[in-house]
Amino acid sequence: MTGSPPVADPILTLRDVKTHFPVRKGVFKTTAGHVKAVDGVDLDVFRGEVLGLVGESGCGKTTLGKSILQLVRPTAGQITFHDGAGDDVDLQDLTNADLVPYRKKLQIVFQDPYSSLNPAFTIFGSLEDPLIKYGVRPRAERRRIVGDLLEAVNLRRDHMDHYPHEFSGGQRQRIGIARALAIEPDLIVCDEPVSALDVSVQAQVLQLLMELKAERGLTYIFITHDLSVTEYLCDRIAVMYLGRIVELADADDLYANTLHPYTQALLSAIPVADLDKKTDRIVLQGDVPSPVNPPSGCPFHPRCRFATELCKDKVPPLRPFGRNGHLAACHRVEEVMAAGIHSDRAADG
Ligand SMILES: Nc1ncnc2c1ncn2[C@@H]1O[C@H](COP(=O)(O)OP(=O)(O)OP(=O)(O)O)[C@@H](O)[C@H]1O
Ligand SMILES: [Mg+2]
Repeated sequence: MTGSPPVADPILTLRDVKTHFPVRKGVFKTTAGHVKAVDGVDLDVFRGEVLGLVGESGCGKTTLGKSILQLVRPTAGQITFHDGAGDDVDLQDLTNADLVPYRKKLQIVFQDPYSSLNPAFTIFGSLEDPLIKYGVRPRAERRRIVGDLLEAVNLRRDHMDHYPHEFSGGQRQRIGIARALAIEPDLIVCDEPVSALDVSVQAQVLQLLMELKAERGLTYIFITHDLSVTEYLCDRIAVMYLGRIVELADADDLYANTLHPYTQALLSAIPVADLDKKTDRIVLQGDVPSPVNPPSGCPFHPRCRFATELCKDKVPPLRPFGRNGHLAACHRVEEVMAAGIHSDRAADG
């Protein structure tokens, strides 16, 4: 938790966002179907919060992040950016040229710090790029800004004249963060920012991200498949399954009062140091179904031990439970709660 409770001031509103990729087959590359990577996401992101986005590999987290930034264009739905001064813009309707001022406000830090820096450029060369694009003309000014940015991420000013291969993974990720900060964004999508790093430096980079957020009043969408970090970093957590959000709640509430059987299974897989608190691990049956042909009804039903005929037929809407804005997309929430099965962490609450 970042300590600052989110106030209901949305910076982004997503409504029924879908991003489908065509699957092409044969010599004539005819479209044989679509990968429904993101398939109907409704979400509000509040200014100043850290919103965790979790789920198994392939559930559409990166595609949703890229769709928000319009790095991939969504197939349908609305993504509205609110600048806080009354300017509300539907990003998906803008041309690439009209997107330029909004691209400045929305940035991304990628998972792999090795491939995200051009090996032929010095660090100054990589970091001055966005500054030139957004009109910082005098070179001396760009060098001053890049020096400040490197210091902000706990590197030295003179590192700007070195090449990427001279840095460790953790240092390169700091440089990736500095680049995302260069043009003073409002929101950063952090896409698994530490999962490629050595465990010993993960905590340092996470700490840095949280300090920068507090100093600069940033909003983060924090993508990860590691539910053990989200508990401490995130104000709220959205759980994705096959392109949809299946549960969304304040971080504390999600862990203490898990409503969706899928979230329960994810949480039960987190290793727990305290053996007294260890409850039975819920093993998910089968593989994640293909997003080309997702199951009918609730996409989780083939792996869910609570599933009934209704779950096979009807897609459960994301609906509120309780007073805290806790949302879950499950026909069987009442039965899940009555079964009294909680995640390991729930024992704390
Ligand atoms: N450009 C693309 N063309 C076709 N299919 C794609 C494309 N990008 C992603 N996909 C597919 O969309 C689905 C969602 O992928 P995505 O990368 O968003 O998942 P993810 O949740 O970020 O997974 P991970 O945890 O492994 O990073 C996957 O089935 C993937 O193969
Ligand atoms: Mg991803």
